[in-house]
Amino acid sequence: MSSFRIIGGVPLSGTVTASGSKNAALPMMAASILADGPVRLRRVPRLVDVETLSRVLVRLGMDVTWTAEDELLLCTVDPTPVRAEYQLVRPMRASFCVLGPLLARRRRAVVSLPGGCNIGDRPVDLHLKGLAALGAELQLRHGYVVARAERLVGTTIDLAGPRGPTVTGTANVLCAAVLAQGRTILEGAAREPEVVDLGRFLISMGARIDGLGTETLEIDGVEQLDGTTHRIIPDRIEAATLLLAAAITQGSATVGGVILSHLEAVLEVLEATGARIDRAADRITLTSDGPPRPVEIIARPFPGVPTDLQAQFMALLSLAAGRSRIGDEVFPDRFLHTAELQRLGAKIRREGPMAEVMGVARLAGATVTACDLRASAALVLAGLAAQGRTTVRQIHHLDRGYERLDEKLTRLGARIERREMSGIIK
Ligand code: EPZ
Repeated sequence: MSSFRIIGGVPLSGTVTASGSKNAALPMMAASILADGPVRLRRVPRLVDVETLSRVLVRLGMDVTWTAEDELLLCTVDPTPVRAEYQLVRPMRASFCVLGPLLARRRRAVVSLPGGCNIGDRPVDLHLKGLAALGAELQLRHGYVVARAERLVGTTIDLAGPRGPTVTGTANVLCAAVLAQGRTILEGAAREPEVVDLGRFLISMGARIDGLGTETLEIDGVEQLDGTTHRIIPDRIEAATLLLAAAITQGSATVGGVILSHLEAVLEVLEATGARIDRAADRITLTSDGPPRPVEIIARPFPGVPTDLQAQFMALLSLAAGRSRIGDEVFPDRFLHTAELQRLGAKIRREGPMAEVMGVARLAGATVTACDLRASAALVLAGLAAQGRTTVRQIHHLDRGYERLDEKLTRLGARIERREMSGIIK
């Protein structure tokens, strides 16, 4: 079990580059099942989640090879397997994204339901609704979705759920619709940059999709899709986490290789907290020289502030000069990190769907335990600002979605060290 030991209080300074987007890479890897030729993905982050999905795809008859530091080559060698096991789907919900591609390309799929999750209720009913509308026969048997479709046929589908659009649900249904007969109109589709990137990837394989980046997608099914080469978008969540690290330490950092339009809502909130933001073509510099001003943040689907940054903003605002309020419309129960932030001295009170954060003058180092990916990032940020030593345990959550975050932070001057723990909590 790994942990980070952080000595807080060092203002960060320097330049780092964003890695490729995890949440774009994973559905694209799954979508490569659709291709009749080899798929080459560039700017793939080296993450535990990427390795987990590679294992799922290998079991599904694919050859998955790293051909360069950040380049993955995926080819189908055996198109007959259709089963994704519980053991591989449970630890990572994105594995469920193989369902649509399997159904469209291999006509059958047996995919485990993903199961529980630390960030709240995460059903897959909308994925199933969309695939059923395209003509798939779906049954739930012993924890697995058993799906069959001799022919998928385009139709109009409203995919919006009670909390708005679904990101991986849109990916799953889109991947099935590209090989369906005729036209599919997908209403209430997710507009996230990761979905747009998946759409562009599918278009480069020969798919016909209109409306990417809007809530209505029009897809004209094609007979087959070719292999392709595609460069994945930079990870906006990682980039923003690094900017927040500079903000919380009252430092200055430049994050390069970013797409500004993916981060506009986040940059506006950072400016509202008093940080200075300098925007260049593909890089952002944040400079902070005082405690943040309090703000109200409600995490919403894109183009809003992402739920995947809600915890990191909470860490920042725990040091604000005043009272902030934070809500999450996407995952209203995604507040497990509050208890661990309180161990570092943060003052946070949950009030129904909102959390009220009473800023404190300083946090104090302590041992804390990460409970999910973005919560871990929030604890690392808090540790960077806290006085003295913070140990963040169970860093495997962080390694699922951040490529060598400790090394990037070290490059910015942070005092952070990865340690293998023997089970003794020091
Ligand atoms: C994706 O999860 C991301 N994962 C999540 O990132 C991210 O937090 C989330 O989108 C929201 O942006 C990947 O892209 C791999 P949703 P996803 O379906 O697709 C409800 C991270 O930290 N809903 O868009 O699973 C759902 O409960 C991760 O990197 C239904 O009601 O999320 C939620 O309230 C965590 N029925 C809302 O929709 C469904 O069938 C949005 O969830 C599906 C979802």
